[in-house]
Amino acid sequence: MLPIGSTIGIIGGGQLGRMLALSAAQLGMKTIIFCPDENSPAFDVTPNKIIAPYDDENALTKFANSCDIITFEFENLPAKSIKFLESISSVSPDSRALFISQDRIKEKEFLLRSDINIASFAPVNSIEDLEKAYLKIGPKAVLKTTRMGYDGKGQRIVSSLEMAKQAYEELKNSELVLEKFIPFEREISVVIARNKDGQVRDFEPAENIHENHILKTSTIPANIDNITAKRASRIAQQIVGSLNYVGVLGVEFFITSADPKSADQNPILLVNEIAPRVHNSGHWTQAGCITDQFEQHIRAICNWPLGDPTRYCDVVMENLIGDEIIDAHKNLKSGVQPHFYGKKQIREGRKMAHLNIVTK
Ligand SMILES: Nc1ncnc2c1ncn2[C@@H]1O[C@H](COP(=O)(O)OP(=O)(O)O)[C@@H](O)[C@H]1O
Ligand SMILES: [Mg+2]
Repeated sequence: MLPIGSTIGIIGGGQLGRMLALSAAQLGMKTIIFCPDENSPAFDVTPNKIIAPYDDENALTKFANSCDIITFEFENLPAKSIKFLESISSVSPDSRALFISQDRIKEKEFLLRSDINIASFAPVNSIEDLEKAYLKIGPKAVLKTTRMGYDGKGQRIVSSLEMAKQAYEELKNSELVLEKFIPFEREISVVIARNKDGQVRDFEPAENIHENHILKTSTIPANIDNITAKRASRIAQQIVGSLNYVGVLGVEFFITSADPKSADQNPILLVNEIAPRVHNSGHWTQAGCITDQFEQHIRAICNWPLGDPTRYCDVVMENLIGDEIIDAHKNLKSGVQPHFYGKKQIREGRKMAHLNIVTK
């Protein structure tokens, strides 16, 4: 158990790193943030930073020697850098969780090994693979890069072989995977935490709406029955258990209705992906719970007792994307908890802020 006053190293200086650093400060911890971008929003909230590329071993050594534990706010770190950091210091979540979730195919294979239902898929490394995969998985499918994807980047929905070939031409410089398109009824996610001692706590599932593949709102409670909520929670618990995971993890699900011919008429839950970090669909916990996901992550990696994830109110979390940040501070209604990220530049599709709107 790390003592109060320890230093937490955070890799990545975006809004997640910023909110992690704020929670760490609330718990009496110090933070140091490693990020190549000198304009990182997380730099505004802690005096300790290292600005260097993620593969700069001198900078990584200095960073690792300055902190008691290292964590990260995003999963697309070079494998070599994480291994290097692990050779000097302690990293939570560990490289195994990171490697699995960095690569959609590794992630799907892990989920299948764990007996968890997912959409059917096939790796695509050539035009021949694509044709075979499309015959098996089409007519409607999603072609995705296996690595570095976020907010829908690196994916194309296709509904004919022609379209699939066109998408392949656009994405073929990366390793790819073709996934069956799931005509889901809704998307939910579970944010779950596990500490080193194996204590596990999860937040209630959130119901997520994406616009242009970017999360727009998370609504709590989700419009699902108790049995489905419990099943989602159990799947999330199984995932953190089998990874021996330490920290907060997000699990995204698709929900579809049961096949009318099936004996089991419960809704079908498919895991879409897992994220080994605090998750955008968990931001509502800042307004809805005594312990929010950021504090929970810090507690988990420091091996403190986890906090209480009980929900006290209904919340809609709304992301403000691109221009939506302009004048947002002028229209704050009662019951709205704003979180502005302090990003210097507005860009289309860029997450600039979120509002936690307490609805009941
Ligand atoms: N196989 C699929 N079927 C239906 N919708 C999908 C599928 N894959 C992705 N999507 C939609 O795109 C969103 C983003 O895709 P996801 O795989 O989660 O990538 P990212 O890493 O960008 O979050 C999903 O939340 C969902 O709305
Ligand atoms: Mg996703």
